Order: sequence, then C-alpha cells, then structure tokens
Amino acid sequence: MKKFYFILIWALIFSVSMQAQTTGKDARMEWWRAARFGMFIHWGVYAQWGGVYHGHQQARGGAEWIMNRSKIPVTEYQERAKSFNPVNYNPDAIVKMAKDAGMKYIIITSKHHDGFALFKSDASKWNVVDATKYGKDLLEPLAEACRKYGMKLGFYYSQAQDWNNPGGSVARKEMREGWPNPDSAKIDAYTAAHKGHWDPLQETKTFDEYIDGVAVPQVKEILTKYGDIAVLWWDTPTNMTDAAALKFQEVLKLQPGIITNDRLKRPNFPGDTKTPEQKIPTQAELDGQDWETCMTMNGSWGYKSWDHNWKSTESLVRNLVDIASKGGNYLLNIGPKEDGSVPAESIERLAQIGNWMKVNGNAIYATKASPLPDLDWGRCTMKRAGKNTQLNLFVFNWPANGKLVVPAIANKAIEARLIATGKKLTVKNENGSIVIVLPSAAPDKIASLIQLTVTGEIANVNIKGTKK
Ligand code: GLC
Repeated sequence: MKKFYFILIWALIFSVSMQAQTTGKDARMEWWRAARFGMFIHWGVYAQWGGVYHGHQQARGGAEWIMNRSKIPVTEYQERAKSFNPVNYNPDAIVKMAKDAGMKYIIITSKHHDGFALFKSDASKWNVVDATKYGKDLLEPLAEACRKYGMKLGFYYSQAQDWNNPGGSVARKEMREGWPNPDSAKIDAYTAAHKGHWDPLQETKTFDEYIDGVAVPQVKEILTKYGDIAVLWWDTPTNMTDAAALKFQEVLKLQPGIITNDRLKRPNFPGDTKTPEQKIPTQAELDGQDWETCMTMNGSWGYKSWDHNWKSTESLVRNLVDIASKGGNYLLNIGPKEDGSVPAESIERLAQIGNWMKVNGNAIYATKASPLPDLDWGRCTMKRAGKNTQLNLFVFNWPANGKLVVPAIANKAIEARLIATGKKLTVKNENGSIVIVLPSAAPDKIASLIQLTVTGEIANVNIKGTKK
C-alpha cells in the first residue's frame, strides 16, 4: 500500500512539473507563434569583400563565408577590416522598414563565423569598436530603434565556428569552393590536417580556451548590454561539446523569456524552434514542433555584389502564406553593404510585401495552421471566431469557372467575404465541400484573401497529435 501511494505522489509531481514546463514554454512562445514574420540581418566586415577576393568571385556559398572559402589569411582579413566605416548605417530606417513590411522581430548576426563582433567586447579586440575605423557599437542603436518601434530583437551568435579568435572551430571547405588558387593542393592538405583551419594563427589556443575566454563571455555581453533580447539564434555547432553547450545554457538564464533554436548542439540540445534553411517543409515533414524557415532574398546571406538572382515579391509573399498555412514562421534576410546601406532590391521587395500585409496581415498573424488538405488553388490559415471558425483562404490561382471549392469540410458555411473589396460572396455547402462564387477577376495577382466563416470547430486533417 505504502509503495502505491509513493508511486502516485511521484506521478503527480512529475505531471505537475511537465504541465509547468509546457505552460511555461507556451507562455514564452506566445508572441513568437503569433508573429509569423521576422527579419534576418547578415552583416559584418565580410560585406567589404562582397563575395569577391582579389577579383575572383567566390565559387560557392554565401558571401559571409568569403574568408573560409577563399582562405584569406587572418592578418589580411583583419587589415582590411580596419577601413570598415559604415557611415550610411541607419538602424532607425532599417527597423522602420521591417515594421512597415509587417515583420514583428529582427535577428541580427551579432557575431558570424568570421568571429567579428558587431558590438564592443571586452573578451576580444576583434570587434567593431576596437578593430575598425567606425569605432562604434552597432547593436546599441539598433536595440534603441527596436524599443522605439516596439520590435522584438534577437541575436544570431556563431557559438562554435570562429575563424579569427584562436581556438574557434572551422567547418572545412576545399579550396575549389573559393577561387582557383595555384596552391590549392597544399592548402587542402593543410586544412585536412588542421581540422579545417588554414592559418596557424587560428590554432594558438584550444577550443575550450576559446569557449571560456571569448564565446561564453561574449554571449553574456550581448544578453546584458542591450535590454530585452527575445531570441538567441545559434548556428553550425561544429565540434561543439556538451560541456560547452551547458555553459551557454547557463548564461541564457540572464534572459528567462528568451527563445532559442535547434543549432546549439545536436541532437541533445533541441532548443525551442526548428530551423529549416532556404526551404519550406511539406505538411508531411511537420512534427508538431515550432519551426521557422530562414531564407535569403537572393542567393546569399551576406552582401554579395554580383548576386542579382533576386526572388520576386510574389514568391516571397506566397512563401510567407505557405509557411503560415503550415503553422511556421518566416525569417527573411537582408544583407547590408559595407557602408551600411541596404540593397535597393531588398528595400523594394520589403515595401511591396508591406503593401500586401497592410490588407492581409491579420490573416497571417496569430493564426493556426490550415485544417484542410492541400489546396490546388492556394493556401489557408485558421482563426477561432467565438464558437465558430474563420478560414482565411489565400487564392494564388483564380479559378477560371468563378467557383472556389473548399474540400473536405462538413461545417455549415455562414459567410464568405473578399477582403480586398469588403464584398460578401455567395457561398453554399455542396457534397461535403463549400463552394464560393467569385467575381471574374482576382483583386490581387499575388494572393487574394477570402475569409470564410463556418459553424463550430473544424477537424484538422493534418494533425498528427500536434498542439497547433
Ligand atoms: C547557413 C550559412 C550561414 C548562415 C545560416 C543562416 O548555415 O552557412 O552562413 O548564417 O545558414 O541560416
């Protein structure tokens, strides 16, 4: 009998703590889940090179990898950084641009793999204040502008890879991914023998000395000097250890509400969010976890002077709709130039996305994933409307016969409204579907929104025991 009560009490304690954890996480994630759309900023001294090394266009990868892919010696890279002077950096304009585009949070690379800190750091002289002509902290005014516009701010931090602070790890890349260096064979042999490092200056300290002397202190700095930090975005856990990961987790306690991603150390430090990169998961790939697709507007995260392969506004908006229809977030990137200005192509696309979001944003923010099967004409998000349900139908392909069929739904149709015009549309239930009669032309070529209200709750065909 005693044993029975003992087990019962333990089971109770366990479920209460699990409940506390879940509600704690749900509370922490609430703003993030409602936000759906954020700005990623990849910026640093790699923008000086713009994806070109001594006239050679970098053969592979984002321009933020120029130092590694082109095997630029530490002294040469740091020498050039001395002239870094982004006089056209305007954080107020950047935050306002993000806000006007409908974005709810910003994540900037406080330190990328090249180890260059965009903030004043006492842990390493390789930072914007001590190592460049500009000599001022770049994160402080951005944090201020975020507070001014009510924008959540997060930091990307390359916790493991660091190509300038000795001891940092390096993901090995072959010379051919940079430029046709006559010494390629010798260099590839060297990097193979030196865990990817290509310069002896990178190996004068151990990884643990780097973690304890630079990385952990710097994460402490960015989590204590700039007010509320909403997200810590780790990246590439090359040679990460559990011991190092635990040290970072300890520092995170400085910001109890902070959200982290799944790139601190895999697989045993999953963080809060999954981070598919440059791709949108299919419905089948979703497993109920919070996720965020990060994507570039052209082919590079960092500024690449010769990459003009810009995605259209239409595809960027439809990506956002597709992602929201599957219950995820979209982190869309900009890569400022070395002078701090933002490429015109990015400014133009963000403004156009903003125009679309002004009309349709409420059908993106704080919505749930679509309960319907895949739709050949577009996507759907869902929102409760009292005891009924509102389906936000985004039409990409306007049906030629003027009839929009919403399949596999038994709920009674109450109302359908075309948001662009505000007009009510004729709607009826028919053979287990709902049919909406449309005007001949689509009001918006990118995606026209129809809000359909139906009775009660909708059985979600896509749920596999998820919470969404
Ligand atoms: C990849 C790139 C890295 C970039 C990151 C953003 O890992 O290599 O440079 O910061 O994606 O998701």
